[in-house]
Amino acid sequence: MDEYFKSYEELDTHQLMLSDKTRVLAYKNAIFNSKETFQNKVVMDVGAGLGILSIFCAQVGAKKVYAVEASMLAKNIEQVSIENNVQDKIEVIHSKVEDIRPGSLEKVDIIISEWMGFYLVHEGMLDSVLFARDNFLHEDGLLFPSVAKLYASPCELPSMYEFWSDVCGISMRCIGQKYRKNKSLKPEILLLNENDLLAESKLLAWLDLKIISVEEINVLGGEDYVSVCKKDGKFQGICIWFAVEFPDGSELSTGPCNEATHWKQTAVVLPEDIKVTKNEPVAFKLELKRNSSYSRRYIMELTLLDAEEVEHDIPCNCYMTKCIVTKKYIDDLDERETCAPESIDS
Ligand SMILES: C[S@@+](CC[C@H](N)C(=O)[O-])C[C@H]1O[C@@H](n2cnc3c(N)ncnc32)[C@H](O)[C@@H]1O
Ligand SMILES: [Zn+2]
Repeated sequence: MDEYFKSYEELDTHQLMLSDKTRVLAYKNAIFNSKETFQNKVVMDVGAGLGILSIFCAQVGAKKVYAVEASMLAKNIEQVSIENNVQDKIEVIHSKVEDIRPGSLEKVDIIISEWMGFYLVHEGMLDSVLFARDNFLHEDGLLFPSVAKLYASPCELPSMYEFWSDVCGISMRCIGQKYRKNKSLKPEILLLNENDLLAESKLLAWLDLKIISVEEINVLGGEDYVSVCKKDGKFQGICIWFAVEFPDGSELSTGPCNEATHWKQTAVVLPEDIKVTKNEPVAFKLELKRNSSYSRRYIMELTLLDAEEVEHDIPCNCYMTKCIVTKKYIDDLDERETCAPESIDS
């Protein structure tokens, strides 16, 4: 059995995920808010774990739930279903979803899955959900969640910088430099506060899970972004997080402004900080590219750009003359439109 699935056999891993109330309740609420949608429907839970999402679906009236789980954990799902009195509705399939022969199952009305990894795509489990979609979902079926979004924002990283300036009264800035050099080599998983965000967030990717292909998630981001600072501060890294949306319109968001989750946030650490001021534009390119030798991993590449040489949003709130002029022009136009007398029909 693949190492990846072995890692999911640890009950500690599941306790961590199941005690992430923000995560579990986001799914539970999305399912319970959609009772009519689930009524008498056939559902597939891709990567059922201990079966919690399958059980929620059964509780709101699904006719049948295929709980697909590749790891040995699958053996527990039946017991948990019996404990919750939904065993008649849940059929456990102990298999990788990719190994289920298309045609051996009836098509399902709904696919539910908690597939998200750090910075959304780490683990590459979305590929399996897309496989399930293409092989087992009715053409007009639904996915829970249905949309995924990836965000990035310039930020301060106090634990990487300020910490080393004063360790119980001892300055260790020289060690901090080495520490950050090391940390800048790979993404860091950590919890940030809303106050650590320096600038507006940028949408790196917006994935419509109903239509996106595996090829389209091989590279995410990769454009030039200009993010405008909302305060003075020290630009010490880029904070990355994701959100997913459910068909009922609810959202599970893992950003620094939301309740903490076990995904925390991901930071790309800068080895040296850069002073920034309010309304300063910070330009960067951030690309997540699938690792060609291990498809469950991504390589993240951050390039800092010259804000003078990159196109800004229109309108843009930064302090550059061209943006101030454009913004003023647009504001004046808007004002003229709102003040114009309504035309009178004769
Ligand atoms: C993030 S856990 C979610 C577990 C559970 N659905 C929950 O929400 O608590 C993902 C689970 O999916 C399983 N899994 C991942 N890829 C799979 C695949 N291709 N086929 C079947 N199971 C898979 C893993 O073994 C793991 O138990
Ligand atoms: Zn600008």
